[in-house]
Formats: sequence, C-alpha cells, structure tokens
Amino acid sequence: MSVKINENYLLLKSNYIFAEINRRVEKFQKENPDAQVIKMGIGDVTRPLPKAVVDAFESAVLEMGQVESFMGYGPEQGYSFLREEIIEKDYKKLGVELSTDEIFISDAAKCDTANIQEIFGLENIIAVTDPVYPVYVDSNVMAGRSGPMQDNGQYKGIVYLPCTAENNFIPELPETPVDLIYLCLPNNPTGTALTREELTKWIDYAKENNSIILFDAAYEAYVTEEDIPRSIYEIEGAKEVAIEFRSFSKNAGFTGTRCAFTVVPKDITAVDSEGKTHDLNSLWNRRQTTKFNGVSYPVQVAAKAVYSPEGQKEIKESIEYYLKNAGIIRESMEKIGIKVYGGMNSPYIWVKTPENMDSWEFFDLLLNKANIVGTPGVGFGPSGEGYFRLTAFNTLENTIEAMNRISKLSI
Ligand code: MLT
Repeated sequence: MSVKINENYLLLKSNYIFAEINRRVEKFQKENPDAQVIKMGIGDVTRPLPKAVVDAFESAVLEMGQVESFMGYGPEQGYSFLREEIIEKDYKKLGVELSTDEIFISDAAKCDTANIQEIFGLENIIAVTDPVYPVYVDSNVMAGRSGPMQDNGQYKGIVYLPCTAENNFIPELPETPVDLIYLCLPNNPTGTALTREELTKWIDYAKENNSIILFDAAYEAYVTEEDIPRSIYEIEGAKEVAIEFRSFSKNAGFTGTRCAFTVVPKDITAVDSEGKTHDLNSLWNRRQTTKFNGVSYPVQVAAKAVYSPEGQKEIKESIEYYLKNAGIIRESMEKIGIKVYGGMNSPYIWVKTPENMDSWEFFDLLLNKANIVGTPGVGFGPSGEGYFRLTAFNTLENTIEAMNRISKLSI
C-alpha cells in the first residue's frame, strides 16, 4: 500500500490564476529582458505603509527585544487592544454593536475565506457569484464539496450566480436552495457593488432559507457612494446569518505585513445531523485555537496604528490615490472605445475585451504589444470570459504610462 493523496486536488485547475500569470510573465521577461513590464494583474498595493504604522511597528519590535516587554504567544483570537479598536473605529460609526469575542484577528482574509468552510458539513451546497475570487471555489473543491468540473467550466456541485453586464453585475437569488453563499462587496473581480436594498434581499433570502452568507468586505475602504454598505451588519438581521471578512491589506498596505480579521457574531448558528443547534463563533474559535497561533505582536500593534488620527489620514490619502488611478484607467479605456465597469467603489476595473477577443487573447495582446499585465476575466470563472481585470494599485506614473501604451494599440 502507498500513501494516497487527497484526490479532490486533482479536480482543481492545474494552477492558481495568479501563479499562472506569474509563470507567463516570467517567461515573457526572460525572452524580452529589455521590456519594461507594468503589472496591473494581482491586486497588490504599491504605496508604502503609513508612517504612523511604521512607527508603531518599529517600537513594538524594539519591545520584543527587551526582557520587560518581550511577548511570547499571544491570544489565538488576537490581542484585545486591536479587537477593541476595530469595534470602536470600524463598526460603532456604522451603528453596529459587536463584542470583542466576535472578532478574530488573522493573517489574511484569503486564509479565513478559504478556511471557514471547514466548520461546515460537506453536504452543504455552496453558491458563488460568477466571476468570483477563486479562493472560495478552490477551497471547497479541496474539501470535496464541488464534484467534477463540467465542460462549461463550472463544478457540478456548486451553484453559480452569473454577474455580467447583462444583469448589471447584480447576482440573482439562487433558483434552487443553497446553504452557504459567498458574496464579495465591493466585488473582486468586477469592481461593482450592491446597494443596501440589493443586499437586504440576500439577508432576507438567507433568513427564509436558513442559509449563511460569507461576506468578504476586504475592499470596503473603497466605497465612495452613500447607498453602498461598508459592512453587511449595517443591514438589519445580518448578525444572525452572516460572517464578515476584513483585511488591512488593501486599505493600509498590509499585503506584505499580513493582518486581517473575521467577524463571527454570537447569534449565528447551524445545526448538526440530529438537528441540534450550535453557535458558529464557538466552532470557529475551536478551529482557530487548534490550527492558528495568532498574528505577531508587532503586526497587531502596527494594525492598531491604522486607526490613529495620523494613520486614518494617511490611509485616506492612499485610497484616494488608488481611486484616482482607477478614474484614469476608466477614462482612458472609454476614450479608445472600450467598455469598462467598476473602479468607482473599488480598485478594480472590469474591462470588456474588444470584439472577437477572449480574455486570454487580450492578456497576450497587452503583454506582448504594450508590456502590460492584467488578469484574464475567465480566470475568475466562466462568466468572466470576454472580460479582463486591471488594478488601480500601481503607481500614478505607471498607470498613466500603461494607459498611454494601450491608447497607442490599434484595438
Ligand atoms: C487579487 O488580485 O484578486 C487579490 O490580490 C488576491 C488576494 O488578495 O489574495
């Protein structure tokens, strides 16, 4: 007998989308060493950490080097100084009351959105928007919830909710009952968002159908319009049906520093096979205390500094900077007759590829002829075919240069 692999992994597409893009770009760069490639693919930030954050980070590192202030293992759920700050500064202003033990600090919304499915039974039906952040789908494939992939690029056991220009990127409620619904708002990849009214329909659906919404709010800091919620808990009753994921990556430049958090309200429950009710907060706590040892002390001190007046001022400037880039991308693409969506409440611009060109063909055209890297929409799901994602996270100079190069292409 030999060791057997988890065969669910064989159901995955061979490469994670961003790894595949890196592979192609590296190959291109090797063959074209002089090309000045501008990366607008993966949503990685370019602005440095705010000074207030760096100062706090630095002093916390120094504390770690002194006997009197050295910190060993911290709480798996995160230090209360950060959890309390989150409650005060992120949620109170929205009229949302949470308690410290409903907040779980982690190193990534990516990890949390991938891991959360572990606390749910394998028989649950999951629904995802299409296109979608691939982590939600792949983590469920790995767990064995997807069944095989069909010819149309969709997994048999997953319910897909198409979001295209035809429906204004607003997913329809599922036609058949589903248990777990992943919503990312503002959306990655389409850069679009749902209004309070639209999101309320999902809360009502979840209540009527005993479903749970897994709400990824990693891009909430980019919301500029009043009628778009920043947290799902702004909607009445959401605490009974929704888990929310947030991150310091895209608002405060923590992509290389790593800090995020997940809110699991005490009121949210699910049942076991005998119909007995269990609260998910306890289950997630059990999972985290077993598999996670918390985020490092200096990183949590740094994250707390995001909420200081100086930190808030600096992150506001960065967000405005990226939104300005987004505006430049939107305008430049529209000027050459290309249809674009998103980029108003989001750092992502969802571009309709030119006629007769699929997502990967457009990727190749931009890479080969303009040395610009974006993300083919189809990499986010079959309904992303014919679209292409650009991020506004590069520098202003590179964004302008990239748009100049694209404007010169005959498309
Ligand atoms: C993206 O490009 O979609 C994001 O950077 C991915 C992530 O945050 O993990």
